[in-house]
Amino acid sequence: AAPAAVIVAIDGPSGTGKSSTSKAVASQLGLSYLDTGAQYRAITWWMVNNGIDLTDPSAIAAVAAKAEIISGTDPNAPTITVDGVDVAGPIRTTDVTSKVSAVSAVPEVRALITELQRSIAASAEKGIVVEGRDIGTTVLPDADLKIFLTASPEARAARRSGELKGADVKATQEALIKRDTADSSRKTSPLAKADDAVEVDTSELTLQQVIECVVTLIGEKRAAK
Ligand code: DC
Repeated sequence: AAPAAVIVAIDGPSGTGKSSTSKAVASQLGLSYLDTGAQYRAITWWMVNNGIDLTDPSAIAAVAAKAEIISGTDPNAPTITVDGVDVAGPIRTTDVTSKVSAVSAVPEVRALITELQRSIAASAEKGIVVEGRDIGTTVLPDADLKIFLTASPEARAARRSGELKGADVKATQEALIKRDTADSSRKTSPLAKADDAVEVDTSELTLQQVIECVVTLIGEKRAAK
């Protein structure tokens, strides 16, 4: 018989290898994949594009439902559109990155996106790997497996500057710490480890080792299902 659908939540701060790990694990196991950070980035891009005052949470809340975000869940070719526009590139700019914490802290934004994430997870027939900050705690508290990835600030900054090709490591580390502090200290579902999450420190591990670790944990969960 086909294995039962498995729901995997992978949370943690930026630069811990969350996206690379989640995509590779989903691809290896034939599962769907959802990058929830991309959705918060997409709604932020939309707000910027529509001239919304991001210093005013009530202005953000008032228009949040207008943006139509669609996420493609193929781990080998993830896509994201807002109102039909492909925003995969524009959501990765430093401008959007520096503004996403303000938008994602607004409760109305989180409620809308959380609902979207739950419906995507519920319709993934073979199961799904969902990566973010509050998946195990808030979005999918009944996930079959919850992973919380961590890494030292040095390792995280080094990985991020590597991705940004030649970016200044120190400046990257400062921007990253600023964003994590904002994401961890906001009132509505902050970045946090669920009590029943397995914590994996990736500082000294290769990407391949982290992938193997998660694949093994999923195999154990499936065997016990
Ligand atoms: O994973 P990322 O760096 O692309 O996420 C971008 C931002 O989105 C991050 O700074 C915090 C926010 N985010 C969130 O609030 N909740 C999530 N589940 C995922 C991301």
